[in-house]
Amino acid sequence: MLNDIQEVLYGANQIQQKVKELGQTISREFEGRNPLVICVLKGAFIFMADLVKEITIPLEIDFMAVSSYGQSTKTSGVVKIMKDLDAPVQGREILIVEDIIDSGLTLSYLIDVLERRNAKSVTLVTLFDKPAGRKVELEADYKGFVLPDAFVVGYGLDYAEHYRNLPFIGILKPEVYEK
Ligand code: XMP
Ligand code: MG
Repeated sequence: MLNDIQEVLYGANQIQQKVKELGQTISREFEGRNPLVICVLKGAFIFMADLVKEITIPLEIDFMAVSSYGQSTKTSGVVKIMKDLDAPVQGREILIVEDIIDSGLTLSYLIDVLERRNAKSVTLVTLFDKPAGRKVELEADYKGFVLPDAFVVGYGLDYAEHYRNLPFIGILKPEVYEK
């Protein structure tokens, strides 16, 4: 598995430090607002778990699974809800937790869905951002690291469902997916 990594971009400690800072900022911002924190599965599951432990105010959590990539490394542009939220979002202050924003298509679709369901507010936190890949205008309210335009894996992110368990974020060797 480690043989497939071309370069480690951020190690476990660097990620942990960043997640802590994000948690502190979010705790201040959402004081008294009881946000509904939504994890975008599957990629954000590790970030979500680490982030909520750094948030010191009352909150609720829910999960949503969307799919746009299939088994490729490029977005299809088609977003599908594979698992919807359990609870209604009407009148709620939403914090969407995403692993990575690339084209922006997944998130702009999700934000649209939540606004149509009359969420009171929708705030977006992403651990990783690849601004070079944007196809629609979208900016996260909070972000961890800005990444180069390369396909990355680890810390929840996969290629064909593998590598999610790597504790760091790294660039996948292109020969792994160009085979
Ligand atoms: P979009 O293009 O809609 O993409 O902003 C968001 C989703 O695409 C996946 N994604 C990646 N997954 N390495 C991954 O493992 C990457 O470099 C990468 N770039 C985008 C991810 O699932 C994200 O939620
Ligand atoms: Mg993925």
